[in-house]
Amino acid sequence: MQTQTPTSKIVLITGASSGIGEATARRLAADGHLVVLGARRVDRLAALVAELRVAGGTAEHQELDVTRLDSVRAFVDGAHERHGRIDVLINNAGVMPLSTLDAGRVDEWDHMIDVNLRGALHGIAAALPLMRARGAGHIVNVGSTAAYRVDPTAAVYCATKFAVRALSEGLRQENPDIRVTVVSPGYTRSELLDRGGDPEVRAAVRAASDSLAIPAAAVADAIGYAVAQPDNVDVNELVVRPTALS
Ligand SMILES: NC(=O)c1ccc[n+]([C@@H]2O[C@H](COP(=O)([O-])OP(=O)(O)OC[C@H]3O[C@@H](n4cnc5c(N)ncnc54)[C@H](OP(=O)(O)O)[C@@H]3O)[C@@H](O)[C@H]2O)c1
Repeated sequence: MQTQTPTSKIVLITGASSGIGEATARRLAADGHLVVLGARRVDRLAALVAELRVAGGTAEHQELDVTRLDSVRAFVDGAHERHGRIDVLINNAGVMPLSTLDAGRVDEWDHMIDVNLRGALHGIAAALPLMRARGAGHIVNVGSTAAYRVDPTAAVYCATKFAVRALSEGLRQENPDIRVTVVSPGYTRSELLDRGGDPEVRAAVRAASDSLAIPAAAVADAIGYAVAQPDNVDVNELVVRPTALS
């Protein structure tokens, strides 16, 4: 693993305790960036930070709940105070409890909106003013193929991801000095299907995912590619799906 170089960036990653966020932390630390990792499971974050440091990387962690604006502000402001700038914010935290609308699982709908959509907005609210003041920055929002198509049992999840794609485009249009990237994975190996949703739906989706899913590192590589581009090159949308996914 490389140590920090003059081109090292200060990169904040939400939802870094598992799956795509964890893989992205590994990839970007290996690329020589300083990664600041946030999630609720701090034991997982601490173990990852220790591992990255042993490998020669530079990493920190902080407890983070993206549904709470004060928590996101503390995460972003803390990194800004420690390092004097924030180069990249990766809004990755997400949940996907799937069910049909007629099941009326309103608490889970609200939770998806709170984490997937409000969480990304909280990140933008906290980081954008700091990036604008510097005249530079990069916000990466993790979308999904669910930002491009709707499937039964995923209406609310898709709605949150369509919304993340829409707000990313608005963010890009309004801020010519800020790079904005949406990275949209298809089935990817992670812990996303471990929590919530209708158990029957979850079992069916898990079976499909188990046979098709790509490694989280494949999505991390796409994020790494976007981050590595020169300041005047803005990679706006990347869709990374299993080859066999229809
Ligand atoms: N896996 C796929 O097939 C797939 C496909 C398309 C898009 N995605 C998207 O990829 C992103 C990452 O998901 P993943 O697949 O890597 O699933 P994952 O392994 O379950 O990771 C989700 C991450 O989000 C964090 N998180 C959840 N609620 C949070 C909260 N309130 N505050 C802070 N962090 C929170 C979790 O950490 P804690 O629980 O420790 O807080 C965890 O680190 C999500 O946005 C997901 O929608 C995944």
